[in-house]
Amino acid sequence: MRLISWRLLLWLTLTCRTAGFDTEESSGDLTSFITRPEIKAPRFDVRVYDSSRVAPGYWFVASYSSMDPDPPTKKYIPCQAGPHIYDASGTLIWAGSCMVENQNVFDFKAANDIDGRSRLSFIMQRAYDDNNKKGGGMVLRDNFEVETFTPVTNDLGAFDIHEFNIVEGGRTALVTAYRPEYMHWASLGREEQGWVMTAGFEELEVATGKVVFEWSSVNHIPLSESNANVPETAPTESPGWDYIHVNSIDKNENGDYLLSARFTDAIYLISGQDGQILWRLGGKLNNFQKNFRVYRQHHARFMESNSTHMIISFFNNASDELTEDEEVSSVLVVQMNTAAVPMTATVLRRYNRPDGGLSRLRGNAQQLPNGNWFAGWSESGYHSEFTDNGTCVMEAKFFSDRFNTYRAYKFEFRGIPQEPPDVRAFVYGTRSSRLTTVFHVSWNGATEVASWNFYAQAGENTEPELVGEATKSGFETTFIADGYFDWVSVDAIDAQGSIISRSKIERTITPGDWRAAGFNPDDPLPTPQDPLMVSGNDDGEGEGESEDPAEGDDDDDDDDGEEEEENDSNLPIIINNNNNKNTPQSQKTTTKTTTALIEAEQSKRLAAEMTWKFLNGFFRLLIFLLMIRFILATINAQSRTLRRCFRRLRVSVIRPRSSIEIPSSVEEPV
Ligand SMILES: *[C@@H]1O[C@H](CO)[C@@H](O)[C@H](O)[C@H]1NC(C)=O
Ligand SMILES: *[C@@H]1O[C@H](CO)[C@@H](O)[C@H](O)[C@H]1NC(C)=O
Ligand SMILES: *[C@@H]1O[C@H](CO)[C@@H](O)[C@H](O)[C@H]1NC(C)=O
Ligand SMILES: *[C@@H]1O[C@H](CO)[C@@H](O)[C@H](O)[C@H]1NC(C)=O
Repeated sequence: MRLISWRLLLWLTLTCRTAGFDTEESSGDLTSFITRPEIKAPRFDVRVYDSSRVAPGYWFVASYSSMDPDPPTKKYIPCQAGPHIYDASGTLIWAGSCMVENQNVFDFKAANDIDGRSRLSFIMQRAYDDNNKKGGGMVLRDNFEVETFTPVTNDLGAFDIHEFNIVEGGRTALVTAYRPEYMHWASLGREEQGWVMTAGFEELEVATGKVVFEWSSVNHIPLSESNANVPETAPTESPGWDYIHVNSIDKNENGDYLLSARFTDAIYLISGQDGQILWRLGGKLNNFQKNFRVYRQHHARFMESNSTHMIISFFNNASDELTEDEEVSSVLVVQMNTAAVPMTATVLRRYNRPDGGLSRLRGNAQQLPNGNWFAGWSESGYHSEFTDNGTCVMEAKFFSDRFNTYRAYKFEFRGIPQEPPDVRAFVYGTRSSRLTTVFHVSWNGATEVASWNFYAQAGENTEPELVGEATKSGFETTFIADGYFDWVSVDAIDAQGSIISRSKIERTITPGDWRAAGFNPDDPLPTPQDPLMVSGNDDGEGEGESEDPAEGDDDDDDDDGEEEEENDSNLPIIINNNNNKNTPQSQKTTTKTTTALIEAEQSKRLAAEMTWKFLNGFFRLLIFLLMIRFILATINAQSRTLRRCFRRLRVSVIRPRSSIEIPSSVEEPV
């Protein structure tokens, strides 16, 4: 009953929403793949995409539907919450939701600064009602295997979900930290004691989780500095009043820290030497002369600094020159002159949320290597990219408003999954002469695939034969081959033409009952074809090509290699030996084991050819002989007529004016 009303409420909320983007309440807002039916990643609605001006890279998004950990359930939930990578145009590249079992993850990004190799990092949220699973920081290799898990090693109840900022070449990570404290509320002028959620940050050893530096707001940020609503009475129970709400932490070359606290509306520079607050930008104790407001900000990041100046970026809920009413979230790049008296802060760049809306919670901003800016506006996965001068070159949002992402990033990344590609094939048709095998292939997380080679085998233990090739398109690529192929497999080919991975061999899925599915009752039930025979038949049809396989085997590899390069569009009918030469390295094993089969096949073909040639020759000879005979007969006949003519001529010449008739019998002696 409670469930029904909750669902009804949710449904009403969804239906009544009038967002700028269409939302879908069915599964149309999620991806759907034949090879990976369990992956139901949120789909992106890309509204603006200027492919020539966006920076290279991939989107890093961690979808979640409810920010708190979900209670355990026995219901089937497809993979939809967790880390996801999309390409620059919004096509899914990696769904890590199955890997994390749909648990919430946060601050998902590439951690490429460790040793030049691509890595991924994110925060695993604590588990629901399980104090032993406090969450932690996760680092994955470029093959999506776990490299390190950074646990909570001190008294903290959970790994905070705001920040996992890997620094010092991968040795340490900065994390935000919350700790409930029972304290006097004297700074508020109240003679009270109660619980306060104090907050700060820690620097942890990535490998062990050991705390190497810790800073807390206690004794640094008084309760009176808070801009959050103060509780009427001090809470008597932990965790207490969330008075500063820390949400980001960064470190510069100097070893100083940049902390953002949302409920003091301030960004703090904290000395790495003694923990003193060096300055505050924004808030009640602001140290800068400035012409902008800092309000409910997030994700403060060092950009540049020298002895007199510092440039930082942050995500501002709403900012405006001196008024409090402008209601649009923005990315701000601010330069501070710390040598001036008083210190000054000026806005260098401002990128407003393209839809003019407010990001009530969460959000982040990131400068990309080409100078563009990427902003995550959080709700419904809304994010956008700007050129340096503020032109919006990309704007996208989940089709669904069922999901958010705490932050969204863009990074270059190279993923080569440990798991092989996934292939599924189905055979369709209503006549044995017109069967079609449809292949589907995907490789979750792979960024380097340019095309796929599709193979089939005559049986479980025969060798795979190439039946075709297709350019990679989207998360899942489809390829259609004429005929019924079984024991299918796929090779992933990179842009250089090398094989990077090979799928397992799968059986082709057939209709359970061919005839019930519409197969012609007069035809015999279909059986899989030997792909090698199909290649042979194809060759046989082209007169010129029919000799190539046999001759090519004797020739040097070079000849065939050249032929291949000359014409790629013939790939689907290239038979296996050509294919082996096309990709010499990776195909070596195939070459060895197929040789016997190829030879058998070729000798068969040779024999057929010889027979045909013999018959051909025989018939030609026969025709030739017949022709000769005919010609001879004609000549013979002609010669008789000629002779007769000559004779007449002779007679008339000899006796031109004679009236004497030559008796016919005279002919004889001539
Ligand atoms: C520090 O940086 C500012 C600009 O960011 C520049 O104008 C200034 O000259 C720099 N100072 C030094 C000492 O390099
Ligand atoms: C964001 O800022 C605007 C204007 O400055 C304010 O009215 C609004 O309440 C803020 N939102 C949140 C969630 O703090
Ligand atoms: C930004 O630069 C592009 C060309 O690089 C130009 O088309 C566009 O109008 C500029 N936008 C603004 C806001 O100046
Ligand atoms: C291969 O042949 C096709 C026609 O059969 C032709 O369109 C294509 O240009 C050729 N490719 C090369 C690389 O010569």
